[in-house]
Amino acid sequence: MFHHPRKILIVTGLCLMVFIFNKCIQQQKILPDLRGAAYAGSEKCANCHKAIYDSYLKTAHNHTSEPATAQTIKGNFAKNNNTLFYRDALKVVMEQTDSGFYQAAYVDDTLKQSARFDIVMGSGRKGQSYLYWFNDNVFQLPVSYYVPEKSWVNSPGFPPQNVVFNRGIPIGCFECHSSYIKKTGSKPMGDYLFDFFDKSKIIYGIDCERCHGAAAQHVSFHEHDPAQKKPMFIANIATLKRQQKLDMCAMCHSGTRETFLPPFNYKPGDNMREYLQDDTAALSTSNIDVHGKQYQLLIASKCYLDNNYLTCNTCHNTHVEERNGLRDFSAKCISCHNHPNHDNVETNVEIRAAFSNNCIDCHMPARPSAVITMKAQTHLNPIPALVRTHFISIYPNATKQYLEKKK
Ligand code: HEC
Ligand code: HEC
Ligand code: HEC
Ligand code: HEC
Ligand code: HEC
Ligand code: HEC
Ligand code: HEC
Repeated sequence: MFHHPRKILIVTGLCLMVFIFNKCIQQQKILPDLRGAAYAGSEKCANCHKAIYDSYLKTAHNHTSEPATAQTIKGNFAKNNNTLFYRDALKVVMEQTDSGFYQAAYVDDTLKQSARFDIVMGSGRKGQSYLYWFNDNVFQLPVSYYVPEKSWVNSPGFPPQNVVFNRGIPIGCFECHSSYIKKTGSKPMGDYLFDFFDKSKIIYGIDCERCHGAAAQHVSFHEHDPAQKKPMFIANIATLKRQQKLDMCAMCHSGTRETFLPPFNYKPGDNMREYLQDDTAALSTSNIDVHGKQYQLLIASKCYLDNNYLTCNTCHNTHVEERNGLRDFSAKCISCHNHPNHDNVETNVEIRAAFSNNCIDCHMPARPSAVITMKAQTHLNPIPALVRTHFISIYPNATKQYLEKKK
């Protein structure tokens, strides 16, 4: 009971605050997706596809670009591990301060230039590169992180002796490593075409709608008609043609090329060639690069050519983190090859029986990547980053290595 008028006032005041606060929260929830009203945003999908959503959060796709934080930057900021030496007295020190993480270039301990880690590119399977904002442009930081060496390295393609902060980053990086960034213009500067962005309009990681296409209509339909179990207003991937299924992945897994249409607008069923220049370069199955040509390698393989249905999805479930599950992947091979003839490969029956746990190391051996091998400056022969070749074939040397390890 509130006899005292002041108490009533306080209570009404409190109610008002709670009311306004609630409104704010509600408003935050109904903030439209940055891509426009046709998009719902991934959090929405969790309401009805919780299992897929939860496991997808752990995938490399989800983490492939992120704001820079102590968790997302894989490199080490501890005193004896935070410096990359260039020549003589030139070095870059990775520094953590109250306002964030920085790369600071020094000559003879005099600070020359520094920039903040703003964006992390790469989930950190093989490596990470870091980007920073300068006004409306994005630049790459001089130092990257290289997982095989667990060390800071000079960024790929950067001059080995000098520290440069002026490598402008075009929209291409984001088109494969994020779900959206708003481009506001572009201008040629020297050799580069500089892209300008609205830095408040970026959706990190590859989200549900980056692969499935805009789904706001799908969401609102099923919210209003929960009894309807037939999926509405969303592409059914199972009914797409083989080439359309492959294109969904090849948009990002067939190397970098000129774009005709914004790749962010791609949706299942679209023809990739309307978005990207067709890749007519001769394929070298031995010289693969990290900007993954899985598509070209796979379609050159007999497993692809001698049937009409194998696609990326035959082996991969992109909602799940599947890395290093070689036995599970081998089960996919066995689903088509239940009795491969290995009589000439190995006479020991036990060793041969164990083949079924790992078809991969012999037929899709890991190969050094031509692109991501960043020169660690600590020694002359850096450990190369390895990429699984998707040219499925017979590799005598890989077989020899596999058998040597078993004996
Ligand atoms: C209000 C519930 C609801 C929400 C929210 C929802 N969906 Fe669905 N979705 C369904 C139902 C129901 C089906 C059909 C049954 C099933 O596959 O679970 C479905 C099926 C699908 C399918 C399979 C389509 C097919 O033909 O095989 C995809 C893909 C899909 N949803 C994507 C999404 C995405 C992406 C989001 C978030 C942007 C989302 N859904 C949000 C209810 C929802
Ligand atoms: C055509 C699409 C495409 C473009 C453009 C692209 N990438 Fe990638 N990037 C990929 C794919 C696909 C992978 C994974 C390849 C693999 O594992 O075989 C990858 C891998 C990486 C990795 C390693 C990630 C890890 O966790 O190991 C880094 C770092 C990276 N890219 C940075 C960049 C930067 C920086 C740019 C822009 C200068 C860029 N990429 C442009 C598609 C692209
Ligand atoms: C890298 C691309 C990619 C991303 C990201 C992705 N999906 Fe999928 N999704 C696919 C593919 C490909 C299929 C078809 C799989 C098949 O046919 O084997 C699929 C199938 C589905 C289906 C129907 C089949 C099933 O497994 O139930 C649903 C529902 C679905 N996705 C929801 C989602 C939701 C929700 C998210 C985000 C949490 C998401 N997807 C993220 C590529 C993706
Ligand atoms: C929007 C661009 C994009 C699309 C579309 C895309 N990927 Fe990727 N994918 C990437 C990038 C970038 C990476 C590197 C992730 C990282 O930073 O580690 C990657 C990584 C992967 C990996 C390695 C995951 C791991 O944990 O080692 C697999 C497997 C993969 N993609 C398969 C697929 C398949 C299959 C499809 C089609 C259903 C697909 N991707 C569609 C961009 C894409
Ligand atoms: C969709 C079915 C399918 C799947 C899945 C599949 N293959 Fe194949 N593969 C074939 C067909 C068809 C051929 C051509 C006929 C043959 O040699 O049996 C072939 C050929 C091969 C060959 C002979 C290649 C050559 O150059 O002579 C090898 C080795 C092979 N596959 C290994 C594998 C491995 C390892 C996997 C799993 C990573 C796998 N396949 C997955 C269908 C498949
Ligand atoms: C026949 C089975 C099979 C098919 C089909 C297949 N993959 Fe893979 N993929 C694998 C295996 C096995 C690995 C190795 C997984 C590991 O080591 O954890 C792999 C790894 C990858 C990786 C990570 C590469 C690395 O070395 O880090 C990417 C990216 C990828 N696949 C993309 C694709 C894309 C895109 C397609 C379709 C063009 C595709 N895959 C088709 C079996 C397959
Ligand atoms: C130790 C390495 C090794 C492992 C492990 C291995 N293979 Fe093979 N495989 C070979 C070699 C070498 C050949 C060529 C044999 C020949 O020419 O007689 C071969 C041949 C094949 C062929 C073509 C011959 C045929 O019978 O059609 C297929 C298909 C095949 N392997 C599939 C598989 C599958 C599936 C697995 C996993 C269950 C597997 N291999 C595991 C080394 C290996």
